[in-house]
Amino acid sequence: MVLLGEKFPNFDANTNVGKINLHEWLGNSWGILFSHPHDFTPVCTTELARVVKLMPEFQRLGVKPIALSCNSVDSHVEWIKDIKSYARVSMDGFPYPIIEDESRKIATSLGMLDSDEKDQNGIPLSARAVFIIDPTKKMRLSILYPATTGRNFNEIIRVIESLQLTDQYKVATPVDWKKGEDVMVQPTVSDEEAKKTYADSLKTIKLPSGKPYLRIVPHPCDLTM
Ligand code: BEZ
Repeated sequence: MVLLGEKFPNFDANTNVGKINLHEWLGNSWGILFSHPHDFTPVCTTELARVVKLMPEFQRLGVKPIALSCNSVDSHVEWIKDIKSYARVSMDGFPYPIIEDESRKIATSLGMLDSDEKDQNGIPLSARAVFIIDPTKKMRLSILYPATTGRNFNEIIRVIESLQLTDQYKVATPVDWKKGEDVMVQPTVSDEEAKKTYADSLKTIKLPSGKPYLRIVPHPCDLTM
């Protein structure tokens, strides 16, 4: 199982658009690999349709989505017709690949299986895993949802925006942060450096401890730095 900060494992896979090698396919982009329990299931269909609709957002952020479901390419190709119909789109092809994993080889190696969810033959299905991979192929986020809970893709976009912002500036995003809102100065930045960088934009919240660690600044794109 891959941990945060580790290099995301490379693998070859069959998809609805042919064979791919994950790292080659990602190139220099960010990536999001998300798994599904099974083709032709209701929650999964709504999720894949949502990702179709979110493609312009993923493109804006330089992120390539790729799905995995424990069924064959033939099954994926049929399922894609339902997903496009549910998303009410009539494009040629499909905007992102879906990996086949009937043997569960990839899902097992990535720790995606849910021992509570089994197919008709008693074989575990993959859970709803989300892995965000950065352009250096490092895993930057991992979330595992059970099969019965559909993901919130607004949250996934929000996390990517936070990751990309905090890679660029020495800030961190607070609870429930949304793009454009104020951010926190990272604890590793000294007060001197923070004052020099942010001047009057820096607000330090007074706390009972007297420690000046809660330092708020506007979203860096709103500053002339
Ligand atoms: C679904 O996608 O709807 C689903 C799949 C497996 C178990 C429960 C729900």
